[in-house]
Amino acid sequence: MISLSDLRQFKAQGRKFSCLTCYDSSMAKAMELAEIDSILIGDSLGMTVQGHDSTLPVLVEDMAYHTAAVRRGNQHAMIMTDLPFMSYATLEDALKNARIVMQAGAQMVKIEGGAWLSETVQNLTRNGIPVCVHLGLTPQSVHVLGGYKLQAKSREAADQLIADCRAVVEAGAAVLLLECVPAQLGKEITELFPHTPVIGIGAGAETDGQVLVVQDMLGLSFGRVARFVRNFMKEQSGETAILDAFKAYHQAVQNQSFPAREHTFQVEL
Ligand code: KIV
Repeated sequence: MISLSDLRQFKAQGRKFSCLTCYDSSMAKAMELAEIDSILIGDSLGMTVQGHDSTLPVLVEDMAYHTAAVRRGNQHAMIMTDLPFMSYATLEDALKNARIVMQAGAQMVKIEGGAWLSETVQNLTRNGIPVCVHLGLTPQSVHVLGGYKLQAKSREAADQLIADCRAVVEAGAAVLLLECVPAQLGKEITELFPHTPVIGIGAGAETDGQVLVVQDMLGLSFGRVARFVRNFMKEQSGETAILDAFKAYHQAVQNQSFPAREHTFQVEL
């Protein structure tokens, strides 16, 4: 089973790693067969599974239920689970809720924010819970951000994001996840933290790992699709199409043909 130390080793070796969201056991098995390196049980399940229009209604119990289902289907990937909206607002809540998803099968929890999470990161880490901090476009704060849009578009905003990354890494964050930021910033942050794997979604081609929402890369998202998404199902046919799409994604991340320039945000900072 892939662990945090493997992700660190992949970074040291310059070997890019694949990550997909997953919420159920049969998809998890297909991802195991395709050797996807890491799985995120994302609170995006609020939209993709539950049909809500944001991640805000998702509960810790939902995350634990889907984490356990995914773990039963996959013994290969490193599993990371989101702590949902308002479930880590206090140190006590963070610890109590992280315990629930870790006991369901997660190897790491993901929380959204910046420097203000330092104490939470430190407390979880001290208690044996590795933490991934999600920065940039943080969907749980959609009402503060005013929509799902590109973040850190100016040098000043990029430097603020770097300061946030530094604070959480110093507090013990094991992994950073950057969403919807200029490709140049994704590269800068990946290089600035040589021992911290950085996963990107719409953060350019230079991050250590890439993640996509599984429905997006299978062409199952209806309506507007984000610039950073590539539909890997389009190239497949026949009864193994889903498995082949996962294999194609894993390969494209490893050989860096995904993300291509058209999937990235090119902004001069
Ligand atoms: O919940 C989720 O699926 C995520 C990804 C968009 C990274 O956080």
